[in-house]
Amino acid sequence: QVQDEKESMFLVSKFASEWFEKQLKTEDGRAIAYSYFKERGFTDDTINYFKLGYNPDVWSAFTDAAIKAGYKLEFLEKTGLTIVKESINGGEQKKFDRFKGRVMFPIRSMSGRVLGFGGRILVNDKKAAKYLNSPQSPIYDKSKVLYGIYEAKQTIAKEDVCYLVEGYTDVIQLYQAGIKNVVSSSGTALTKEQIRLIQRLTKNITVLYDGDAAGLRAAIRGTDLILEAGMNVRVCTFPEGEDPDSFAKKHTTQEIQEFLDSNAVDFIRFKSNLLKNEAAGDPIKKAEMIRDIVSSISKIPDAISREIYVRESAAILEIGEDVLFSSLAQNRNASV
Ligand code: CTP
Ligand code: MN
Ligand code: MN
Ligand code: MN
Ligand code: MN
Repeated sequence: QVQDEKESMFLVSKFASEWFEKQLKTEDGRAIAYSYFKERGFTDDTINYFKLGYNPDVWSAFTDAAIKAGYKLEFLEKTGLTIVKESINGGEQKKFDRFKGRVMFPIRSMSGRVLGFGGRILVNDKKAAKYLNSPQSPIYDKSKVLYGIYEAKQTIAKEDVCYLVEGYTDVIQLYQAGIKNVVSSSGTALTKEQIRLIQRLTKNITVLYDGDAAGLRAAIRGTDLILEAGMNVRVCTFPEGEDPDSFAKKHTTQEIQEFLDSNAVDFIRFKSNLLKNEAAGDPIKKAEMIRDIVSSISKIPDAISREIYVRESAAILEIGEDVLFSSLAQNRNASV
């Protein structure tokens, strides 16, 4: 029963993805959505590879097409592709497309099945959310998916490193620029389940975050979970005002790779330096900062790695190693 329901939801999602793709070829779709992708610098190959699409700006264009093709409203509603509003005074129920008027980014599983969608408005407008995503459902759990994992998995294994970015277009633009081992957690902090997906392919994650304050905070958030999984984490910050998408557009593959290689720094080193600058001259902040670093180091399962990090952080923070070691011992006792 439950399996049948999920299967029906997968089928309707596959239909939707293919239907959205086709809409890029209609007269309106070409003028509105295909041209949007072109303006962002996406080639035809890229658009096809990521199966990008368009949900027309008509109330229920998609929903009507799906019902006509034999898909049940029940599953259209469960996947969130269709929103059903019961009428208040007993009239007809109203159906409309959740992603009406948006360009579509299908989100696929490790094995390539469409699980859900991200939809972007075409013109930035303070009143509408820039991105809408599929709601949680039996087939789509945002804490368990990574955008781009299906497209990136082979290269992640081959290069033995996974780049993690904030957004859909960061994945796509880097891929097009020749950096193909990239996934996105779609604007949220990385979860344990997402880390487990990457861990099947590599032990190394490099976090690439937007060159703004929000990006920096996001780079630190969630990183302890990666350390806890026994993985190696590096962080690469982009120049102010740039994200991987805008950066990749301006540079060649070789330049991007060189930028990543020379700017990616070990996470503990990154955090030590960041906090050191923030706490400069403030003893209360400095104590807080030491606890913060120690807390990150304490998450690392391997004792030898922990020891190496303590020595390095002590040097960066200009404090005695013994202070860090005893704080670490307390921390580990507390958490065991
Ligand atoms: N996001 C979201 N809802 C929003 C804004 C952002 O779900 N209202 C998610 C999207 O997955 C987005 C990511 O957070 O890709 C990063 O957000 P942001 O940096 O603002 O967007 P970009 O990916 O840079 O998108 P674009 O270049 O299209 O503006
Ligand atoms: Mn951002
Ligand atoms: Mn961004
Ligand atoms: Mn962007
Ligand atoms: Mn250049």
